[in-house]
Amino acid sequence: MTSVLEVRSLRKIFGGVKAIDGIDLDLFEGEILGIIGPNGAGKTALINTITGFYRATEGSIRFRGVDITALALHQIGRLGIARTFQNIRLFRRMTVLENVMVANKTFSVAPLRSVLSAWLPSGRRRAAVDEAMEFITLMGLAAKADHRADSLAYGEARRLEIARALAGRPQMLLLDEPAAGMNETETAQLVEDIRTARPRVKAIALIEHDMSLIRALSDRIVALDYGRKIADGVPESVLSHPDVRRAYLGDDEPATAGAAA
Ligand SMILES: Nc1ncnc2c1ncn2[C@@H]1O[C@H](COP(=O)(O)OP(=O)(O)OP(=O)(O)O)[C@@H](O)[C@H]1O
Ligand SMILES: [Mg+2]
Repeated sequence: MTSVLEVRSLRKIFGGVKAIDGIDLDLFEGEILGIIGPNGAGKTALINTITGFYRATEGSIRFRGVDITALALHQIGRLGIARTFQNIRLFRRMTVLENVMVANKTFSVAPLRSVLSAWLPSGRRRAAVDEAMEFITLMGLAAKADHRADSLAYGEARRLEIARALAGRPQMLLLDEPAAGMNETETAQLVEDIRTARPRVKAIALIEHDMSLIRALSDRIVALDYGRKIADGVPESVLSHPDVRRAYLGDDEPATAGAAA
């Protein structure tokens, strides 16, 4: 199996808080990796450190063979890592189409101006719109392309974030709690959307508390607790692992929630 991402002995310390306390983790080509763990386990900190939002205190991160541990956010983005945020981050007053167009690499030099685009040759403008529309359509938002982001329903805004992440044509997609705040219908739709997105990238890491989503999508699951990895393996074995059950309040939450799905 080819590793897309290799995290080794990773630490991220904030003052006295060990957000990540020595994690080894691989993401293999073609897989969806579920990342679970109770609040404060270090899931978001892990994504933030991989993507360069945080600088690692110790350890190394390699992406497709390249050491990215010390690279800046924009350099890591350019190498092909895209993420979504636990708290949706969109340009609220821009349209769906504009939100996706600003993510397009072709326009990374002056993304905001290019959206206004009066100065762009019309052919290039057309091509950029077509390309953005491809990802908007993929995420089921074609009918909303010229609606403002702040007019979208919650589930739609989440899907727009994924469309925008995909539009940068990343190799790897990191999703931080994409189903947070979604109702059951929206979550079921999200499962389909992530399946649709899957062949567009080499690997996906999916942070979630929603075990129905984790079970539906994960080829493998890694469980974190207090900044450490407490389990790593096929979904059944990780979700029934005693340490994982103990880490979650109510002890049997992961397995029960998944079984009900
Ligand atoms: N920028 C920061 N400054 C200080 N402490 C931080 C920072 N980011 C994270 N932490 C701490 O690191 C630990 C892990 O936080 P993190 O956000 O990664 O948890 P999480 O697993 O994503 O939790 P949740 O499921 O609630 O999103 C927590 O104790 C948190 O308070
Ligand atoms: Mg988090």
